[in-house]
Amino acid sequence: MLRTHYPFYLANAPVTCEATLDVTDKYNGQIATRVSLPDAAALESAIAAAYAATGDMRRLKPYARQAVLEHCVARFRERRDELAHALCVEAGKPIKDAAGEVTRLIDTFKIAAEEAVRINGETINLEISERSAGYHGYTRRVPLGAVAFITPFNFPLNLVAHKVAPAIAAGCPFVLKPAERTPLGALIIGEVLAETDLPRGAFSILPMLGRDAGALVTDPRLKMLSFTGGLIGWDLKAKAGHKKVTLELGGNAACIVDGDQGERLDAVVDRLVFGAFYQSGQSCISVQRILAHDAVYDALRQRLVAKVVALKAGDPKDKDTFLGPMIDTAAAERLQAWIGEATEGGATLLCGGQRHGPMLEATLLENVPHDAKLQRMEAFGPVALLQRFGTFDEALRIVNDSDFGLQAGVFTDNLRHAMRAWDELEQGGVIVNDVPSFRVDNMPYGGVKSSGLGREGVRYAIEDMSDVRLMVVRDDA
Ligand code: SIN
Repeated sequence: MLRTHYPFYLANAPVTCEATLDVTDKYNGQIATRVSLPDAAALESAIAAAYAATGDMRRLKPYARQAVLEHCVARFRERRDELAHALCVEAGKPIKDAAGEVTRLIDTFKIAAEEAVRINGETINLEISERSAGYHGYTRRVPLGAVAFITPFNFPLNLVAHKVAPAIAAGCPFVLKPAERTPLGALIIGEVLAETDLPRGAFSILPMLGRDAGALVTDPRLKMLSFTGGLIGWDLKAKAGHKKVTLELGGNAACIVDGDQGERLDAVVDRLVFGAFYQSGQSCISVQRILAHDAVYDALRQRLVAKVVALKAGDPKDKDTFLGPMIDTAAAERLQAWIGEATEGGATLLCGGQRHGPMLEATLLENVPHDAKLQRMEAFGPVALLQRFGTFDEALRIVNDSDFGLQAGVFTDNLRHAMRAWDELEQGGVIVNDVPSFRVDNMPYGGVKSSGLGREGVRYAIEDMSDVRLMVVRDDA
């Protein structure tokens, strides 16, 4: 179903060039297709075109922006199977997860289509004292201008959608660099956008090498950098000059299982297994640290291990596969080395740990040393750690003992515990009675501490991509 070659998009138009980037099937390592590879000169043209399109995009009426987004929704629905297949091949994402991501892509564009016509302002009462009698304040939101996006490999469609759809709704031209290993999702979005009558320069999608893409970060014509990826995001921010920067940089998400969960442990285990191992744990909010109360720990461990060893691993194109490959062998080797470091430091391997090329078994460990990489850093793979706690205070302290803070989960029937978790956990979001991996695309989504800056979730991204502009009117009648 893949074509043999995909063009990139420069100022709304497809461009084919001689230099190409191979896109491999992440399960079997074979070349699946090729994409035209833009160079630094193409990036310069894209930035110039986006900058020049600033006024046209600002003037595009909200209903016209909405129409573009609705066109995308309709076309993604028609191309659902093709999109899922592309994800399955280029990311090694099990076909069920890939189909789920296409549904989310459609949701994200649908939300943006709705939001495009409700970007409102405020009336501000300025008459707070005699000095300002007769003055009235009004605000509206104006698009920031041309913006830069860099997206990761793990959600090649929906994490692109979380930048592109709000930009169109807000009226910002954009230049996007998708992940080098998974450019197809973004390029198919580009193909659909090219069917619309967005002003020339409104979008460029350049699947280029990181080494040629520096201007995306440093060029002052771009008013914002929105980056999703690893901790390198903080270095990019340091180079971004006066740009607004939003960063979504992942975490080592924790999930608390409280002592009152004995009755519904099977349901909790189902969600934990999903949260830790879906798309091989390659999600910024996949469950990495499971904290279970003494009262349920032993039973939870036994049921978790039983479920995890039964997960079906293999070819992501097979509809029964739950666990596919990691993005490449180097990533799987890196994580296997972290497992080795943990066991050498005294951790117990409960199951998994073996690797065949990019396929790493679903792995559970307990007693992982406090300073092991698996405790301190983002695993971004199919590995979860179990740890016991005695009091809820202790659980909160352990969750907060991390440089990261994106989302945490808490299974509890105790309302006070739920409220305390919401209050005290240093996180962008706390999910009660589910795993931290839960996300619906209109939620504010983003982290604190090393996990990032700013929020996505369409409406929140539109706020980031626009400025408040005030008008004061003096009524001196
Ligand atoms: C991420 O990995 O940051 C995205 C998770 C999601 O959208 O479900």
